[in-house]
Amino acid sequence: MIRNKKNQRRKGNSKKDKGWVVKNNRPEEDLGNPLLYYTDEEVEKYSRSGGMRRAQEKIAYRVLELLELDSGKSLLDIGSGPGYTAEVYCSEGYNVTCMDLIPKMISKSKEKGFEAYVGDMKDVGKLFEGRKFDGVVSVSALQWIKGKQEIQRIA
Ligand SMILES: C[S@@+](CC[C@H](N)C(=O)[O-])C[C@H]1O[C@@H](n2cnc3c(N)ncnc32)[C@H](O)[C@@H]1O
Repeated sequence: MIRNKKNQRRKGNSKKDKGWVVKNNRPEEDLGNPLLYYTDEEVEKYSRSGGMRRAQEKIAYRVLELLELDSGKSLLDIGSGPGYTAEVYCSEGYNVTCMDLIPKMISKSKEKGFEAYVGDMKDVGKLFEGRKFDGVVSVSALQWIKGKQEIQRIA
């Protein structure tokens, strides 16, 4: 969203009209399917973006604060992308496993040395059947999941 100053002026800056307009729709709303959005080009763009890296790192540190899990424990990072959040968990001493729907994202995580799997988070139970993790985390990925039924498949 951007603050639309022109629009705000035209409408007299009334308190009722906040003058907010949506600049771009979010890809998860526009496309609905991450496979359509994360083309090879988009994966490259994302995995080279300093801004995205910094944003993911910041959230990952907050996740660790909220999780209150001792260092050395195992974490499953769902929708791990190229591994920005995983790198933070790893640097803080956690044993991280990555999983993501997009094979190219998983290749990037593997290049960084992570144990990483391609899979749909809706099938996470099946994919990791018999395995135990001390924590399961996900940053900026769950917005792709729609509806109660899909959410229940992950929870
Ligand atoms: C913003 S990106 C990556 C965020 C990641 N925390 C990081 O550090 O870069 C969101 C990721 O969620 C993944 N994703 C979206 N829907 C998914 C699904 N159903 N199963 C697994 N991964 C999914 C996308 O492929 C994408 O890599």
